[in-house]
Amino acid sequence: MKRILVTGGAGFIGSAVVRQLIDETEATVINADALTYAGNLESLGPARDHPRHRFEQVDIRDRAAVERLFRDHRPDAVMHLAAESHVDRSIEGPAAFVETNVTGTQNLLEAARAHWEGFEGAARDRFRFHHVSTDEVYGDLGPDEPPFSEQTPYAPSSPYSASKAASDHLVRAWHQTYGLPILITNCSNNYGPYQFPEKLIPLMILNAVEGRSLPVYGNGENIRDWLYVEDHARALRLVLENGRVGRTYNIGGRCERANLKVVQTVCQILNRLCPHPDYAYERLIEFVPDRPGHDRRYAIDDSRIARELGWAPKESFESGLEKTVQWYLDNQQWLDRVRTGEYRAWMETNYRHRVMEK
Ligand code: NAD
Ligand code: DAU
Repeated sequence: MKRILVTGGAGFIGSAVVRQLIDETEATVINADALTYAGNLESLGPARDHPRHRFEQVDIRDRAAVERLFRDHRPDAVMHLAAESHVDRSIEGPAAFVETNVTGTQNLLEAARAHWEGFEGAARDRFRFHHVSTDEVYGDLGPDEPPFSEQTPYAPSSPYSASKAASDHLVRAWHQTYGLPILITNCSNNYGPYQFPEKLIPLMILNAVEGRSLPVYGNGENIRDWLYVEDHARALRLVLENGRVGRTYNIGGRCERANLKVVQTVCQILNRLCPHPDYAYERLIEFVPDRPGHDRRYAIDDSRIARELGWAPKESFESGLEKTVQWYLDNQQWLDRVRTGEYRAWMETNYRHRVMEK
């Protein structure tokens, strides 16, 4: 594939995808991102100024802008990652999630369809629309239930996961109805460098280092399946190149951990890498009121992607988490850029009622 349109390429996972595509392929990458609070071009590193990287500040809610993108760049594949991605924000304000995740996806599908219908022969056969989605569409998993497979029925719990589920359905419908050659991936929780510090792992690292409470929702027993972001980006490239058209592939970390355990592991790493003179970081852990509709457990059965495409995660949770903690300790400048007034306002909104500052 010569020209790949990546949406959301200034976000956490999108920037990892763009960095890999620039470093490891010959493709030209058209990076379309609205640069919301979660998007930052500095997350691209040297890829940002690479001659094969073209940035377009485009809001996918704007249909005309999306159509222009396809006309100007004539991509032969789309990797669609742009989304509102934070569950807690979707509880505070669901509208943006429907607008970007549902209507934005529909705009892309319509523009991609018109573009693809204009192709003939090999170009038409080669075109792919790859929709990047989440394991949260499958909903709440009981402690003894088998992990989510591609056959698990959808049962989203939050406005975020409902909007992602709706977008998955649209993508599948565009394949069934119009024949658009689509791929869908549903992945578990990612962690790693450049993750916006509203999400569990970076939030805990920064709060600990700054001596603030570590707010664990509920009893901390909720389980997530953690995957290092570079492993996810590699899986996405494999699916795009070799995945079977019309298929869904689940991607996971083979790494189920309770939230409290994750936070304690972050504390242990910090106790070694940057010890506090007076206390162990675990002292800052505080149990706070739960997230409404909080899913107890996510876990992924990745046997399809393993069998068909030979993918497996490379990074272990322990080594990946240590790298991640070290990255946040070393990248104050990036943190200063992303922790804007908007970030501080969000922290106030989400934690004001929850946390008693120590
Ligand atoms: P993120 O919030 O870090 O980045 C999202 C990016 O999309 C940002 O750069 C933002 O500017 C951009 N964006 C938001 N609204 C936009 C709009 N209207 N138009 C154009 N750009 C817009 O998200 P992430 O964690 O990198 O997630 C990327 C994708 O992967 C999302 O679709 C998410 O649902 C999915 N996903 C995330 C995880 C995870 O653990 N983070 C796991 C599985 C799937
Ligand atoms: O499963 C994939 C999903 O993972 C992605 O689709 C989402 O985009 C991504 O944000 C992530 O969703 P989660 O809600 O699982 O991630 P988050 O980091 O917000 O929370 C992880 C767990 O930690 C969750 O059970 C809630 C809990 N938590 C989170 C925060 C922010 C806390 O206990 N305290 C907190 O302050």
